[in-house]
Amino acid sequence: MTPVLKRIHHVEFAVGNAKQAAYFYRQAFGFDQVAYRGPETGCRERASYVMKQGDIFLVLTTPLRHDDALAVWLMLHGDGVCDIAFEVDDAAVAHAHAVGAGAASVRAAAPHGDAAGTITTAAIRTYGEVVHTFIQRDGYRGFLPGFEKREIKGKPTGLMCIDHIVGNVEDRQMDRWVRWYDETLGLGRFVSYDDKDISTEFSALRSTVVASDDRNIKFPLNEPADGRKKSQIQEYIDANLTAGVQHLALKTDDILATIAALRANGVDFLPVPTGYYDHLWERVGDVAEDRGKIRDLRILVDCDETGYLLQLFTRPLQDRPTFFIEIIQRRGSESFGKGNFKALFETIEQEQALRGNL
Ligand code: FE2
Repeated sequence: MTPVLKRIHHVEFAVGNAKQAAYFYRQAFGFDQVAYRGPETGCRERASYVMKQGDIFLVLTTPLRHDDALAVWLMLHGDGVCDIAFEVDDAAVAHAHAVGAGAASVRAAAPHGDAAGTITTAAIRTYGEVVHTFIQRDGYRGFLPGFEKREIKGKPTGLMCIDHIVGNVEDRQMDRWVRWYDETLGLGRFVSYDDKDISTEFSALRSTVVASDDRNIKFPLNEPADGRKKSQIQEYIDANLTAGVQHLALKTDDILATIAALRANGVDFLPVPTGYYDHLWERVGDVAEDRGKIRDLRILVDCDETGYLLQLFTRPLQDRPTFFIEIIQRRGSESFGKGNFKALFETIEQEQALRGNL
């Protein structure tokens, strides 16, 4: 039996300047800074800031030495997600199962402790140069060993939890990674979208979502599909030099308030194409939210058999066209906004063209 992943413990980003990134996530997205690890706490190699909002924990890490492997990671990929960490009951068992099923080991299970207790961690490698760390907390009382409380309050924007995390993988590699997630981590196939679902006149992608049995962990995996021009997934892979995390979707239960706050904070969202709202209401039917406000805030809406969802995507958060954030509110729908892909693709392609990558 595959060991159960209890939850996403945190998502760690490798960044060039964690001090400034922490300020950005606090001021732009409203995260609280809650903990810190660095030279002042006895870690001379790296500085890490823990950011929290709702149940979302992000760790922003900068290597302080040129000969740190993370410095090479950053040179190759730029700022981005380097680790999606899971809480598990037994890190050694989770690691052994994954490695037995073919995962590459990054670290065998080992204990780490400080005055707040002892945890056990192990790690495997997934697509690209992204790692999954297994964390067995055993009642540990802080964030993780070595971190000290260092609180700076942000102004919350209503972000509650991680809805899904999307990986972009290389051409024809999606099915292999779908199988890998099933065999190593017990995340089964949830839904698939082919290039007829997600394409425009010029470019396309295929996507399969793997999920935990309780649906609390959902990982869509995208691969580029052939089109007349370069797929946005291929643009990502060219800029990142390999597969990697494309976006984090963060859930709110009041997207009107969340997007208004984020826009006021200066978060840069993908523009919604003109004309998007002309036929929207025919497509999605009745919604509880004020239609005028949805349009004024330029929020996207989609529906399926079980309900609807509202969503919006930021532009890439760094200069390379790689990682971005999605804001999502679900009203019964468990899908991912397929009906918006086409509208959005056209916007993304305009942006790709501006970057000279189409
Ligand atoms: Fe998404």
